[in-house]
Amino acid sequence: MRIDILSAVPSLLESPFSDSILKRAQEKNIVEIYIHNIRDYSTSKQKSIDDYAFGGGAGMVLSIDPIDKCIKQLSKERDYEEIIYMSPDGELLNQSICNQLSTQLKNVIVICGHYKGIDQRIRDHIITREISIGDYVLSGGELAAAVLVDAVIRLIPGVLNNETSALTDSFQDNLLAPPVYTRPSNYNGWKVPEILTSGNLKAIEKWRHEKSIEQTTKRRPDLLK
Ligand code: ADE
Repeated sequence: MRIDILSAVPSLLESPFSDSILKRAQEKNIVEIYIHNIRDYSTSKQKSIDDYAFGGGAGMVLSIDPIDKCIKQLSKERDYEEIIYMSPDGELLNQSICNQLSTQLKNVIVICGHYKGIDQRIRDHIITREISIGDYVLSGGELAAAVLVDAVIRLIPGVLNNETSALTDSFQDNLLAPPVYTRPSNYNGWKVPEILTSGNLKAIEKWRHEKSIEQTTKRRPDLLK
């Protein structure tokens, strides 16, 4: 998968992709991530990328031209299945969208908004999908883009060492994950449930499933509907 991220503050995106699982996914050539500075595509003398909103009102709006130029340049090289805009008014991200994106996309562009948003004409004519990571407003789309990209990439086969660990994540069956423990089995009197040290794999699997249902019923009953 190739992911091109357009940002007005690219430095915000450096660290999420340069460590751990996402770094290894790139080293293994499973995914290529390119971060583009929208400002590099500005043709104005001051390299400006935003302007006042028509009709007045507080806040600056990201202009069409630099974003359109950047996308046109990228699209000359390859076709993109989706051009995603990170926005609090987009469809709410969930595990099923992540699964879908991880299997269906080969080339994707992700646009990070800033200021009061982007010129509506980009949304009307260029963007194919809008995604929100939650009902709250961030200062920009970069952190949201990092969340989306992380959640999608870890699902691509080969990214996680043990593929089953993505399959047993919370939300994969609309269930929260069961609790996990590691050594020591007794920490100052806080003991690990005995079943987990019994060696009875069938009983352990059953216990984990029951705990998943119990956790989901208690914390996220909406998932069970
Ligand atoms: N940009 C600002 N807030 C956001 C959110 N909640 N989700 C996606 N992009 C955003």
